[in-house]
Amino acid sequence: LNYRAARFLISAPTLATCPEDSGAEVAFAGRSNAGKSSAINTLTGQKALARTSKTPGRTQLINFFALDDERRLVDLPGYGFAKVPESVKLEWQRHLADYLQHRQALKGVVLLMDVRHPLTEFDQMMLGWAEQAGLPLHLLLTKADKLKRGAATNALRQVERALAGRTEQVEVQLFSSLARQGLDTLEARLNGWLRG
Ligand code: GTP
Ligand code: MG
Repeated sequence: LNYRAARFLISAPTLATCPEDSGAEVAFAGRSNAGKSSAINTLTGQKALARTSKTPGRTQLINFFALDDERRLVDLPGYGFAKVPESVKLEWQRHLADYLQHRQALKGVVLLMDVRHPLTEFDQMMLGWAEQAGLPLHLLLTKADKLKRGAATNALRQVERALAGRTEQVEVQLFSSLARQGLDTLEARLNGWLRG
């Protein structure tokens, strides 16, 4: 699959306004500031395809990027963004759960977590939703460049241990957009989901 061919398709505030539910797509989920939009830009080799920001909560809509007529990447808004009212958070959680549970085209979820703060309460919630929806998961421990190699490997082992015994198909890897680390592994997993 040619990820470099990705083009912006549409921004949708709710499931009802998403593109037609056909073909195959993969969603990038995770806490605000985890590096979702950066990972999409790194994967597609395009600096500003998905908007990134130092300010958490940059991405507030479900953004769709088309790889071709049949396949899409989806940039989800970061959950856990502190500066929005509780009612907005709950509303967004509802849309997110709705999307994960009912979207037929969704073949897998890439869950991004800062390697320095993995498996937060929000991440656990996502794991639960993906499990309920029978969706395979690929965990990226992002910003691996922020840790020394040994510390990053330790973090990876800890997350692997914490996930041991889960029934759904979960894989985990280190990733860095800055250092372009872990790109081949990510592409291989996405290819498996999107070619299926
Ligand atoms: P929301 O849209 O708010 O949910 O955030 P996001 O998950 O899309 O994060 P985004 O890609 O905008 O990145 C957040 C911040 O982290 C930006 O300042 C990025 O430059 C930085 N960042 C992203 N990936 C990396 C990485 O691999 N290494 C380092 N050091 N910084 C990164
Ligand atoms: Mg974003």
